Amino acid sequence: MAVESLAGPALLLDASLRVVVASPGIEALLGEPVRPGALAPRVLCGESLDRPIAEALAAGRAVTGAVVRPMRDGAMRPLRVRATPLVADDETAGWLLLLDAREAPDTADAPVFFHGMWTGDPGMKQMFHVLQRAARRDVPVLVRGETGAGKELVARALHDLSPRAKGPFKAINCAALPPSLLESELFGHVKGSFTGATRDHAGIFRAADRGTLFLDEIAEMPIDLQAKMLRVVETRTVIPVGGSDPIPVNVRLVAATHQSLRRAVELGRFRADLMYRLRVVPLLIPPLRARPGDVALLTDRIVEELNKAGERQVVHVSPGAREALERHPWPGNVRELRNALQYAFVIGEGPVLTEADLLPEITSGEPGEALSPVPVNAPPTVYGSPEAQRIRRALERAGGNRTRAAKILGVSRVTLWRRMQELELAT
Ligand SMILES: Nc1ncnc2c1ncn2[C@@H]1O[C@H](COP(=O)(O)OP(=O)(O)OP(=O)(O)O)[C@@H](O)[C@H]1O
Ligand SMILES: [Mg+2]
Repeated sequence: MAVESLAGPALLLDASLRVVVASPGIEALLGEPVRPGALAPRVLCGESLDRPIAEALAAGRAVTGAVVRPMRDGAMRPLRVRATPLVADDETAGWLLLLDAREAPDTADAPVFFHGMWTGDPGMKQMFHVLQRAARRDVPVLVRGETGAGKELVARALHDLSPRAKGPFKAINCAALPPSLLESELFGHVKGSFTGATRDHAGIFRAADRGTLFLDEIAEMPIDLQAKMLRVVETRTVIPVGGSDPIPVNVRLVAATHQSLRRAVELGRFRADLMYRLRVVPLLIPPLRARPGDVALLTDRIVEELNKAGERQVVHVSPGAREALERHPWPGNVRELRNALQYAFVIGEGPVLTEADLLPEITSGEPGEALSPVPVNAPPTVYGSPEAQRIRRALERAGGNRTRAAKILGVSRVTLWRRMQELELAT
């Protein structure tokens, strides 16, 4: 059969599901050539868990279905496959597969993969759309989302999709450094400007020149430093600590916060003028618990990924485990989900991931206490609050090791440390 002459993307397979010939339309559709001899299920489904097409082919059934795989533009999209067995002498001698991406059901909640982020959530997809448009321009973007929801991935996507992609991407956490150090890390310092300043230091603004600077936890920036930051944004120059001459910098700013910056302004903790400068394009990442379907989607994708690590092969997640995962409120969002599954891979054995493999706090069904990182309107210290208890339990289980406790809670070490200080748990 002259598959080459077919106008659309098509694959001719032999009985063992290896590609005999691919039509020219295949490379245009998938963005890569498919070589004769390649195994069709692998080409179409990768190592994916849900393999309706592969299973139908193995069973010798004609089938029309969709597989989700990366397309030419790198995005994951459903691909419609119509498979017809070619029968000779009552036996399946091979297959003709007709592929097409246009007719595939592209429903509002079809899964997409965008710069490291999986989602089926319409709100997330809308955010990706705005992100793509904002990336092309040099406008400052403010990313808001709970811990572990993907703020850093969003910042990197903004960089990678921007004309600055070949330039540096630099990140600094404004909550992780004492004010004096933060200033010199940001703007640099000149030799001798303070004890220990034994030589000139360029600072991260200059290191990010021609690239993107990611200002994480911007709401934590001390108020006097905010005044200096405003000057930098307005004049596009920095003055190093101890220096006097402004140095031009060409940097695109992406800032992130887990709390409302507007609220911080109302409370007098953040300068309104700086907020308006930084949030020209605001991007909101919805928390995982507000994205129906994403827990199931991410569970499957993360399980696939952990399977590749090879230690344990999970082919099935039990309904009980799925229910527990759905019920959990995920205060640590995707990071917490990843940690929970990693834990399950280590604790459990065999091909089925069950409820028993999950952390007790996920299966207990208790409405887990959101480890909300520094709400601006934090209530007065409550040592015995559910959150404090949750932190203490995690610390106990981690034998006092904060890095491990943070992992259990699904938050960063910095966030845990800050909450411990606020709840007066830190000693
Ligand atoms: N939609 C997603 N799909 C797949 N992985 C994701 C998704 N969102 C986040 N992740 C993963 O979750 C982890 C946390 O993401 P990230 O570091 O971007 O969060 P964050 O909002 O910056 O958190 P924090 O406020 O604690 O710094 C990373 O391992 C990231 O790869
Ligand atoms: Mg982060």
